[in-house]
Amino acid sequence: MNLSSYFITIAIFFLLIKPLYSSWNNIIYNETERLVIAQTFDLRDKTILHMTRPINETCVEAKIDLRILHQNGIIEVASIDYQIPEHNFCNGIFQIKRYQLNYLLVLYVNSTDIESASYYVLLVDYEGKFISNTYLAPVSVINGSLYTCGTTITSYTTEEYGILFTTYESETVVSWSYLDGLDDKRNIIKINNGKQSLKTPFGPYFVSPRIEGNFIFITYDSMNAENKCVESNDPTDIRFIVYVSYLKPIMNGVDGPFIIYQSTIPHLSVDKFVCGNTRMSMSSFCILVMNSVKANKKSKKHLLKISFQDSGSVFNIEKYSNLKFDDNVIKLELYNLYYGGFLLSLLKRTDKIINNLQGTILNNDGNYYSNWGLPTDLKVTQEFYAIGDFNNGTMYLIVQEDEFSWKISSSNLPRISNDYNNPCVNKTFPLIGSNVWISTSQINITYNMPVTLSINNFTIYQDDNNGVPILRQSIPGNPSKVFSLSNDNRTIHINVLESTFNKPNANYYIVIDDNAVKDLISNQPLAGVGKNYWNFETSGINDDKFADDSSGTFSLTADGTKYYYNLPQDRKSEFFLQLKADLAKAIPIDINRLDIKCCEFDNGQIILILFIKCKMNKNERNVIDVIKDLDMLIREKETSPISWFNTTNFIDATFGFKQTHDFFDCYKFHIIGILIGIITIGLIYYCIKKKYPKGKNIFIFKFSLILLDFALDITFILTKGNKVNGILIPSIIFCVVPTTINIILSISIVLQEITKNKNFYKWFKNNTSIVALFTILAGTDIEILNILTSQVAGIMIFNAPISVKAESYIFWGSFLGLFIEDIPQLIIQVIYINLTVTYDTIPFLTLLTSAIILANKIVSRIYYSIIQLNIKKRMSNMSSIVGS
Ligand SMILES: *[C@@H]1O[C@H](CO)[C@@H](O)[C@H](O)[C@H]1NC(C)=O
Ligand SMILES: *[C@@H]1O[C@H](CO)[C@@H](O)[C@H](O)[C@H]1NC(C)=O
Ligand SMILES: *[C@@H]1O[C@H](CO)[C@@H](O)[C@H](O)[C@H]1NC(C)=O
Ligand SMILES: *[C@@H]1O[C@H](CO)[C@@H](O)[C@H](O)[C@H]1NC(C)=O
Ligand SMILES: *[C@@H]1O[C@H](CO)[C@@H](O)[C@H](O)[C@H]1NC(C)=O
Ligand SMILES: *[C@@H]1O[C@H](CO)[C@@H](O)[C@H](O)[C@H]1NC(C)=O
Ligand SMILES: *[C@@H]1O[C@H](CO)[C@@H](O)[C@H](O)[C@H]1NC(C)=O
Ligand SMILES: *[C@@H]1O[C@H](CO)[C@@H](O)[C@H](O)[C@H]1NC(C)=O
Ligand SMILES: *[C@@H]1O[C@H](CO)[C@@H](O)[C@H](O)[C@H]1NC(C)=O
Ligand SMILES: *[C@@H]1O[C@H](CO)[C@@H](O)[C@H](O)[C@H]1NC(C)=O
Repeated sequence: MNLSSYFITIAIFFLLIKPLYSSWNNIIYNETERLVIAQTFDLRDKTILHMTRPINETCVEAKIDLRILHQNGIIEVASIDYQIPEHNFCNGIFQIKRYQLNYLLVLYVNSTDIESASYYVLLVDYEGKFISNTYLAPVSVINGSLYTCGTTITSYTTEEYGILFTTYESETVVSWSYLDGLDDKRNIIKINNGKQSLKTPFGPYFVSPRIEGNFIFITYDSMNAENKCVESNDPTDIRFIVYVSYLKPIMNGVDGPFIIYQSTIPHLSVDKFVCGNTRMSMSSFCILVMNSVKANKKSKKHLLKISFQDSGSVFNIEKYSNLKFDDNVIKLELYNLYYGGFLLSLLKRTDKIINNLQGTILNNDGNYYSNWGLPTDLKVTQEFYAIGDFNNGTMYLIVQEDEFSWKISSSNLPRISNDYNNPCVNKTFPLIGSNVWISTSQINITYNMPVTLSINNFTIYQDDNNGVPILRQSIPGNPSKVFSLSNDNRTIHINVLESTFNKPNANYYIVIDDNAVKDLISNQPLAGVGKNYWNFETSGINDDKFADDSSGTFSLTADGTKYYYNLPQDRKSEFFLQLKADLAKAIPIDINRLDIKCCEFDNGQIILILFIKCKMNKNERNVIDVIKDLDMLIREKETSPISWFNTTNFIDATFGFKQTHDFFDCYKFHIIGILIGIITIGLIYYCIKKKYPKGKNIFIFKFSLILLDFALDITFILTKGNKVNGILIPSIIFCVVPTTINIILSISIVLQEITKNKNFYKWFKNNTSIVALFTILAGTDIEILNILTSQVAGIMIFNAPISVKAESYIFWGSFLGLFIEDIPQLIIQVIYINLTVTYDTIPFLTLLTSAIILANKIVSRIYYSIIQLNIKKRMSNMSSIVGS
């Protein structure tokens, strides 16, 4: 590799007259005892300082003291409430690292026994409270003794992924374990492990997180490698090769090692070395402090930056020039800034006491961005200093002033990334902070380069201000009909469900996962957009139309039905409660507006009804819109929150959500038909009443009603009887038994009349077929027989001279029917309506006619009794008159 061809020497370190970030606030913290800062951990809204009290050259006091620095400047005192073995406090074996954004990890060795010494990791919360203690690995024994040097834990930058534990297994092999998540004992779970080999014995390595839970592993091959454990400083060495491997612990793969730099220039050595990357940039880079030793023994130093992609291909090498640099670099650090970019800090020794700290802000690609204007009164007298930043836009520097105090100097943090915190994203629709109309169904994202879809998700959340974001839709990036790309491949259009933005005046945000999108040319996965960057609001008002309470049906899948049946009886109602709660979250809607009723069966699937109450206040969605949204959410459940809850995931997507139509809406034709029927009968009644006022013409209604009721009973048994468990048998019994009894009764009444009533017999001889017909019809209700005597419409056939006795039989027979037919049937109808979820004409009409008939009978019985009472009264009156 010809190095000089890569050199693009640009003057980057301008002499800035006025530093950009110059207003500093200082807080001095006095320690009452001799405590010095050993390390700091940046938890975004707070910073944890690890304090130690040195005892002698090699050991510190066996206690882990913490100071918690909050964003508002308040400092709390804490300590880790778990005692790790004392030997860890000598030679700096134990280490503390951040874990996600609320925890600390303490890496330590449990014993000094060569046979059993093992690494453990202690998990504590940020205040030092013990959570768990997890075994990691045995301590390597190299050359007959325990070797703990170079063992480290690397935290991932974001909370989604875990940590990488690395240790020298032998002189030339580094073994790693990837750990993430907590098991039921709250121990950290070991997910995967592997090995990386080194070119030089104990060659130093760095591990640094990349995107999607992957890490880059950098090592270099050099005779005078900077090694914490083996101190050597021979500036004549010329062999220097940097290797990079790309570890994918979740996917269980490794790419590399790739050589990214190889020095062939004589008398050039590398003094210090840092590498950086951000999730945001497509590449990583390393900065090397080069030391060229001239013949006159005066060494000259400069910084060299090497940029490379995850594939190992180096695309840029440049030299930061313009930097006077003859001093000893004690410390070189690269700090990832919250709003993008880096702070590169160099601690140089200018004379024996005073150290000189210099800082430079770099952008995401590692290029010069600005100088860091340090406080003018800054004196870094110790080697310790720490840089950090809060997510409130403050950057700070912590220095140890003396043994009893330390100082925090803070200033504003430069905002290097764009508002999406992702330099690849150019703009979006909706724009950050903009308003979109509710039910917007397209969003689009424009990138700064041609892109293509990859695999991870685009996820839309509603921010309900209570801190719990509501998932609205999650769309996997793999190409589908939801997506389309613009002609230049730079804009992605996404069709979202209309139900996604369904709340007016609500806050929404969209999260793009890392590797949802790839660079079209290099195929490199691109970083996404984190939560709370792409925020916007919906505007518009709800359709102010009021929609009354309504209901609809949905179905459980075959699996869901099976799950429900296998639940113990007492868990079944709990399941529905949970289902209701989850539906309320998925729509989203106030849970008090929903009610679920069980169940009907259709083709082995449970069908449930959901009642939706009308909205209580203006900001809520009306019932009709809720029904429309719910249907869409269920039909598109793959990407909607319906599939996110384990209960709602049992809902059948193909069935959707069907509104149970308003009864009168759906059955208006049936009802019109019935009305026409009633009017027709009424007209007929009117006509015949006018012509033959003497007849009991009202029987025409009773007759129609009784026949209709019977027809409906039969239809009901045939069509609906098997829809609800346990309805069929009783309805058959309460239909067949009364019918049979009625027929027997009517036959015996007729027979009795024939034999005992001469007038009737005479009439009967002329009208046998009519009598036969009515005897059978009387099976529906014995009162039908009364028609024979009614002279309805003046038809002479209907003037049968029935005896008073027979009339009384009919009366009592009909009274019996009340208990064996009408009341039981009404009860069955009511039970049925209560147990079913769908309205239908047949059960409704059956219920209606049963009720009318029953009411009619009861009322007529009451009248009859009154008449009877009156007769008795009159008789007794008469007898008293006679008596007096
Ligand atoms: C720290 O100590 C110095 C000198 O002893 C004193 O001037 C300063 O007020 C103290 N600061 C605090 C915050 O106690
Ligand atoms: C430092 O102190 C520890 C604990 O008191 C002691 O075991 C160790 O020998 C001391 N080391 C030196 C170098 O004095
Ligand atoms: C962030 O917190 C610091 C306290 O450490 C405070 O001084 C600063 O004003 C805060 N910055 C913003 C932008 O709120
Ligand atoms: C250290 O841990 C190892 C592995 O769990 C165990 O075998 C050993 O007994 C432990 N030693 C001590 C002193 O606890
Ligand atoms: C291992 O031991 C051998 C012989 O004692 C010694 O030459 C070698 O330098 C040692 N290696 C390390 C890495 O300590
Ligand atoms: C977006 O793209 C335009 C045109 O290519 C460019 O001028 C602009 O700087 C880009 N904006 C961002 C924020 O990247
Ligand atoms: C983004 O989407 C909106 C709404 O669908 C559309 O009007 C607009 O033209 C799109 N913008 C681009 C740059 O394609
Ligand atoms: C993407 O979303 C699906 C569900 O829609 C989920 O199962 C998957 O885990 C998500 N992928 C990532 C990387 O979050
Ligand atoms: C966009 O991508 C498609 C498919 O990957 C490709 O055929 C087309 O040439 C690309 N267009 C541009 C302008 O890069
Ligand atoms: C859903 O998950 C919760 C908690 O994870 C569990 O308690 C519940 O039993 C699950 N319900 C179903 C229907 O699987």
